[in-house]
Amino acid sequence: MPMNSSATPVATKRIAVIPGDGIGTEVTREAVKVLKGATSAQPTQLEFAEFDWGAERYLRDGTTLPPEAVGMLRRDFDAILFGAVGDPRVPSNKHAADILLGLRAKLDLYVNLRPVELIDAALTPLRDRGTNDVNFVVVRENTEGLYVGMGGQFQRGTPHEVAVQEDVNTRRGVERIIRYAFDYAREHNLGRVCMSDKSNALTYGHELWQRVFSQVKVEYPEIESRHLYIDALVMEVVRDPGQFRVIVTCNLFGDILSDLGAQLAGGLGLAPSGNIHPGRISLFEPVHGSAPTLAGKNLANPAGAVLASALMLDHLGLAGPAEAMREAVQTAVRAKHMTVDIGGTLGTREAGDWLADFVTKNPA
Ligand code: NAD
Ligand code: IPM
Ligand code: MN
Repeated sequence: MPMNSSATPVATKRIAVIPGDGIGTEVTREAVKVLKGATSAQPTQLEFAEFDWGAERYLRDGTTLPPEAVGMLRRDFDAILFGAVGDPRVPSNKHAADILLGLRAKLDLYVNLRPVELIDAALTPLRDRGTNDVNFVVVRENTEGLYVGMGGQFQRGTPHEVAVQEDVNTRRGVERIIRYAFDYAREHNLGRVCMSDKSNALTYGHELWQRVFSQVKVEYPEIESRHLYIDALVMEVVRDPGQFRVIVTCNLFGDILSDLGAQLAGGLGLAPSGNIHPGRISLFEPVHGSAPTLAGKNLANPAGAVLASALMLDHLGLAGPAEAMREAVQTAVRAKHMTVDIGGTLGTREAGDWLADFVTKNPA
């Protein structure tokens, strides 16, 4: 085993970096900088390898997710840091479906964990709400629902065309995400889980969610469980977000709810996510996309990617540097040492430099 200067054994975690498209490349560059700073004095060192999967590569040679990618990631890496995919030159979004949805499905990353945490009361668009009022996690089912790509089109382009997109809900899939939400609430002492569906209209698929929720919740008697239909839930989340600690929902509703939550906490630039299979290689990314209008201008907020990287460190068991990174973001956001989207004056690179400097000077 290699030794460092103080003769402490050095462990290594290998990180696959997939910057992707647009601002994805800009924010991951900064996140890697901050990760290096946060772990520089740690017994566990990070090693990074970058992969060029994204629109540019797809347009050049047709590659989206190479066939060997999943096996290679499982074998050679401990975690994946992802930027974003999406490019106006690929209107079909084919590469994004193959790469991002492909990795979620093929690595069976069934949890999409999206914390919504208001760092500074001044950043919420809600009146008279503070940091305690906006503090919940969205637990989004990440491998099923309307995202499985089952369906088809018939008589496309004619006045009689038909488009079918199947909503797939399996007993195993629904049960494991609901259990994850309760386990998360238990582990983090959050006390409350709200499940949200649309079982009043989707009487097959979401009736299954209802039944599974009723069965699982009795195993967690100390946790208050509640159900709201998704339309009522989004209304309540805006009216009084302090009611919620853990919200578990299906793939599509979780996607929508996570952008709503992000905005309540200061915008997409600050929102992190983890695509997780507990105990296995998992993928971490900001909630936002490739934001083509901001791309190449040094305007994108890197904080979402940095906070996603902190979730990655949590997953790797590196709680100290993860906390240091969160503290850096909190300090920067409160002091407005940040990008213009949250009222700062810094560019993407300068904000990243500030965060990297902070974690280097304030190690875990
Ligand atoms: P988007 O998240 O890329 O951007 C929406 C708006 O949010 C931007 O115009 C900008 O105003 C703001 N924003 C987002 N990220 C920001 C940041 N880091 N700093 C400051 N402001 C930020 O969503 P969109 O415009 O709907 O989608 C653009 C492309 O990204 C599409 O191709 C879409 O499919 C893709 N997308 C990818 C992912 C992903 O890879 N996980 C997620 C969402 C969207
Ligand atoms: C997200 C994105 C993706 C999703 C898109 C790009 C397919 O919006 O990660 O939230 O819908 O899951
Ligand atoms: Mn989304």
